[in-house]
Formats: sequence, C-alpha cells, structure tokens
Amino acid sequence: MQIIRITGKNKLNGEVCVNGSKNAALPVLAATILCEKPCVLKNIPHISDVSNMQSLLKSTGQYSLLSNHQYQCEMASEISHFASYDLANRLRASFLVAGPLVARTGYARVAYPGGCQIGERPVDLHLKGFSKLGISVAIQNGYVELKANKLKGNRIYLDFPSVGATENLMMAATLAHGTTMLENAAAEPEIVDLANFLNQMGADISGAGTDTIVIQGVSSLTGGEYEVIPDRIEAGTYMIAAAATGGKVKVSGVLPEHLNPLVAKLRETGTHITVGEREILVEGKSGYKAVDIKTMPHPGFPTDLQAQFCAMLAGAKGTSIITETIFENRFLHLPELKRLGAKITVEGRTAVIEGTNKLNGAQVRASDLRAAASLVIAGLMAEGTTTVEDNGYLLRGYSQLCENLKKLGAEIEVL
Ligand code: EPZ
Repeated sequence: MQIIRITGKNKLNGEVCVNGSKNAALPVLAATILCEKPCVLKNIPHISDVSNMQSLLKSTGQYSLLSNHQYQCEMASEISHFASYDLANRLRASFLVAGPLVARTGYARVAYPGGCQIGERPVDLHLKGFSKLGISVAIQNGYVELKANKLKGNRIYLDFPSVGATENLMMAATLAHGTTMLENAAAEPEIVDLANFLNQMGADISGAGTDTIVIQGVSSLTGGEYEVIPDRIEAGTYMIAAAATGGKVKVSGVLPEHLNPLVAKLRETGTHITVGEREILVEGKSGYKAVDIKTMPHPGFPTDLQAQFCAMLAGAKGTSIITETIFENRFLHLPELKRLGAKITVEGRTAVIEGTNKLNGAQVRASDLRAAASLVIAGLMAEGTTTVEDNGYLLRGYSQLCENLKKLGAEIEVL
C-alpha cells in the first residue's frame, strides 16, 4: 500500500516534460503481434500498465526489451494464442491482444476482462464486430474464444464510439480479406496513432480520427520503428494542478491540438494559457471561476480528465455542474473530495460542486488511476496535510508524478 503525503497551499512553478501516451502505447504494443519482423517503439512510458502488457505479450511468445523509453520486440515463430487470466486481470487493455491474435493465428483465447471501479466495461461491441469479420465467438468459463480460418472484411457500425472496440477491430481488419468499414468509430488521438503505426508496418487504413475508418486488408505486416504520441492526459493533469494551485507551469513535449477541450475550459475559469509549438504555459490565478463540464467522446472533454478537473472546481468561485456521459460509475473520487471539505451533491451521472476556499487536509483513499490524481491535486490545494492511500493506481499511468510535482514546488512525498 503506497501512501502519498502532501502539505498543501504551495503554488506550482517551473517546467515539466510529459512522457509517451499510455493509451497510445498499449494498443500499439498489442499491434506488434501482427508484425512479422522486429519492431522498435519509442517514447514508451515506464509505467506498470506497460510492464503488465509486456508480460502478457511475452506469454504469447514475444521477445522484448524495454529500456530508456524504447521497446524492442519480435514475435517468436510459434505464437501462443492464450492470454492467461492472472495477466489479463491486471490490465483491462489486455483484451486488445484478442484482435491481433486471431488475425495473425486464426485463434485466440483471452480472459474475459473484468470490470473495474469506474464501470462494468463490457466488450460486447468488440465481440459483435469480430463476428461481422467472420470470427466465431464463444465465451466459456471466463474466457473469450475466437476462431477464424480467414477473416473477411465487412461493414461494422459501432453502437457507441468505443475506443477499445475501434482499436481491436481496426487491428483485426488489417489482415482480413477485403475491405472493412468501421462506422461511428472513436476518433481519439490514440486511434490515429495506432492507425499511423499499422500503416507504417504495411497496413492500408484511412479515415482514422474521423467517425468512419476504412481498412483494406493486406496479407502481412512487416516491422520497423515508430514513436508514440505524448500523453495528453498526463499533460492535462499537470495543467490542472498548476491552475488549481494558482501557479505558473510550462508543460512541454505536448501536441497542443490534443488538449483543445481542456485549454478551452481552463480559459473559461479565467486561467491564462499560452499555447506554443510543443508546450503549453499555464498561469493560474486565485479566485478562478466555476465552469460546467460534460465528458464526451473526442473531440469532447475527455472523461480521463474529469476527476482531476473536479478537484480544481472544488476550489472555484461559484457552482459547477459536471456530467459524466462515458462511464456509469466514474464519481468515486467525489466522496473523497468531500472529506477534504468540498461541497458536492451527486444525482446519477451529474455532480454539482459548490466551490469553497476552505479545503482542509484529510486522509483519503484512491479508487482508480485518475481518482488518485484528482486526490493528489486536491491535497495540493488544501490547507494542512493530506494523505492519499493509493495501492499502485498512480504508477499504472504516471511515471514520476510525485517527483515532478515536488520539482514544481509541491510539498509531497511517497511513504
Ligand atoms: C479507453 O478505455 C481508455 N483506456 C480509457 O482510459 C478511457 O477512459 C476510455 O477509452 C474512454 O476514452 C485505454 O485506452 C487503455 P471505451 P476503453 O471502450 O477502450 C462502453 C485511463 O484512465 N463499452 O471507449 O475501455 C464502456 O462500458 C483509462 O487511462 C461498451 O458498452 O473505453 C464505457 O462505458 C480509463 N461495450 C464506454 O463504452 C463495449 O464493447 C467507453 O468505453 C466497449 C465499451
């Protein structure tokens, strides 16, 4: 159990550089199963989700080495189509190996991914799409069994623009016979990054980043080098922390266009934002205004920044309304924020936060990765000492978050 102790009220000042994107790296790592030649992936973050994905890929017969943000890998000639429960259970994104495995070998047996704190997180859209590609789908004793002697391209409409379903189906369709069209597809930057990686390996994908993606099947993918995009959620977390503490922080190594929704909302609070080529300067101010937030699929406000923004709004001038439309249970950080003195009422997927400048340190517990980040931000804002009980959530998605915050002037330590 990791305890993070924070003494609040310091303004953050300085510069921080973000790492490669967790949510781009995980699907790209899974996609290496499709490649017949070695791959070298750059800007890979050193986080536990990546090392868990690496272990999962090793269990399918991949040789790999991760060092200094570079992941070198090669598939063995014999590929095991089995993704074991204990590995799959550690990482929701493990289900992303299903599409590549069945496309490459004609068979996959992947543990049915468990839900997690933020929601049940079914994979029905993945399975429905697999069936449309001519894959037979069976679920038995906690495993999903996929079989296909050949995948056939098809037209697939996604009932919801699911990021994971779009990624899984795009990867499977790269080796299908004929053309696949994904309609109502997710358009997140991480989808574009995955499509760019696959195309560089010899795939033929167009339309990524829009709601319709067309994949012309090819016979095989080669290998090569690729650098994943910077992590927009890690960047957004630092930007919100800077604004919430009234500090002045330059967040560098970002692709600013990936942060448009957050920049717009921070400006609405009165925070001063300067957007450069590859960096964003955030100048917070005390007495920033309350704003309303509604999470939406990209290019809407990202659900992965909702918890962090709630922490900031707890200290705003005025009342904010937050609507979480993506996950059914992504408000677990709110009761913990209330322990710090935040004034919040929740009605289903809507929360009303009445800003207060009287947040006081307390003992709080994280329930998931972004809730942990939210509670750290609230601790930076609160009078006195806050301890955040975080059993490994932060490390799943942030490398050196606490160390970087300390460099920016926070009084924070990991016990
Ligand atoms: C990805 O999860 C991200 N994870 C999540 O980030 C992110 O919150 C989410 O996309 C939304 O942007 C990775 O990329 C590894 P979805 P994913 O499929 O693919 C429902 C973080 O903090 N749904 O778009 O699982 C689902 O229940 C994580 O970094 C179905 O109903 O998200 C959810 O309510 C958290 N059936 C909604 O769609 C399906 O078959 C969005 O899920 C699939 C999804």
